[in-house]
Amino acid sequence: LRLNRFFVLFLVAFAVLFIAFGQSKPAGTPAHVPTYTEDGRLLPPVGYREWIYLTTGLDMSYTASAGMDGMRKFDNAFVNPEAYHSFLQTGTWPDKTMILLEGRPAESNGSINKAGHFQGQDLMGIEVHVKDEARGGWAFYAFDSDKPAEMIPKVASCYSCHQGHAAVDTTFVQFYPTLLPIAKQKGTLSSSYLKDESKATK
Ligand code: HEC
Repeated sequence: LRLNRFFVLFLVAFAVLFIAFGQSKPAGTPAHVPTYTEDGRLLPPVGYREWIYLTTGLDMSYTASAGMDGMRKFDNAFVNPEAYHSFLQTGTWPDKTMILLEGRPAESNGSINKAGHFQGQDLMGIEVHVKDEARGGWAFYAFDSDKPAEMIPKVASCYSCHQGHAAVDTTFVQFYPTLLPIAKQKGTLSSSYLKDESKATK
């Protein structure tokens, strides 16, 4: 009985400490939100390799003649976990969503590899698509170093292509295989995507 009482006391103390520490986390710094410099440049997202993995594209190109000089490339897409879990519920993206594309060279004939391609270690740039209602909605940023990046101006072709062809809320969910069925089920596919689809299947 004595032991039991100690054990209960211990549990209570532990719970109190747990709650106290949980709440002492500084308010206003939730995990994975876009962070900017004072003049509005986006800081490179840290730890995105621990976000949710969406897909990898190989040599994805949007023009018929991809002038990449025979250079082959992988693109890995990651999204912050909060946005991902929200998408599973709603089929679309919440405020503060960050979807990141990481470029890596496609390499071959390394180690025991004889055919096919694997990803090289050199980072070939990072692009981020950020939904931030306080800053006018979706915006693009591109990083080639660990310095903060200015927003790509809204007149850039990035915006018109994403606006005109992306399946959900200006993001290319048609290429994210685990998310497309959810968007279909929730009825959140864009009319421009549905138009492209009906042309493709004719
Ligand atoms: C002609 C169409 C087109 C243009 C122009 C374009 N993209 Fe995309 N973008 C795509 C497609 C298709 C994907 C799907 C993923 C992939 O390519 O691997 C994508 C995906 C992305 C993603 C992942 C998040 C999302 O929205 O799905 C980012 C970030 C991104 N593009 C950034 C850019 C930036 C920055 C520019 C301009 C410098 C740009 N894109 C221009 C077609 C385009």
